[in-house]
Amino acid sequence: MELIKNLRWRYATKKFDPHKKVEQEQLEKIKEAIRLSASSYGLQPYKVLIVEDHETRKILKNASWGQAQVTDASHLIVFCGYSDITNEIIEDFIRITAQVRGQSPDNIRRYGDFIKGKLAEKTDEERQEWAAKQTYLALGNLLAICAELKIDACPMEGFDANEYNKILQLSERNLNAVVAAAIGYRSEDDHAQRERKVRKPSELLFEVK
Ligand SMILES: Cc1cc2nc3c(=O)[nH]c(=O)nc-3n(C[C@H](O)[C@H](O)[C@H](O)COP(=O)(O)O)c2cc1C
Repeated sequence: MELIKNLRWRYATKKFDPHKKVEQEQLEKIKEAIRLSASSYGLQPYKVLIVEDHETRKILKNASWGQAQVTDASHLIVFCGYSDITNEIIEDFIRITAQVRGQSPDNIRRYGDFIKGKLAEKTDEERQEWAAKQTYLALGNLLAICAELKIDACPMEGFDANEYNKILQLSERNLNAVVAAAIGYRSEDDHAQRERKVRKPSELLFEVK
């Protein structure tokens, strides 16, 4: 199993080589893996920002506990959940589904109404949290595809989301920064690459009932 081998190879990279860039072709593969992520109802209630601009990343670094990965990596990927799941978002999804599956939107309108009804049972805060949870699946796919492509990555929650929202002007776009990933290539002297992977033994993690 190549995937298992590659998951053992990957680690949360602390020090990136600032001179190495991820090629566009590789970036497209990462984007496709993110795009193919599963999400509840298939709604993908988020946007994914690919921050390349160095000046912006310098400002973001200050809002990220000063973590050097933000500026030294090739790209910073920021997963932003929708703050509010508007009817428009659900209707766009229904429109795309109808188009892809060659159906009339009226045929699948009931599915849209079902989603609207289910989400209406949640409070604003619960809806925002629900959207945020979906972004982690996309982050998981990013980590897996990066491992397969031998691209280093550091998943990151260590940042001030409110600051990110201001710097990246997310709030006015109904978005909220949830989690990020720095991607690029490890520096030779990143000590973290030589540390052994710590995971729970299977008998602590799994239970068969
Ligand atoms: C959601 C999430 C947020 C994380 N945030 C940070 C972070 O802000 N900075 C950092 O250096 N590592 C961060 N990590 C990396 C974890 O510490 C790391 O994945 C964990 O220790 C397991 O080690 P490994 O990924 O090297 O196998 C984060 C990981 C996840 C999954």
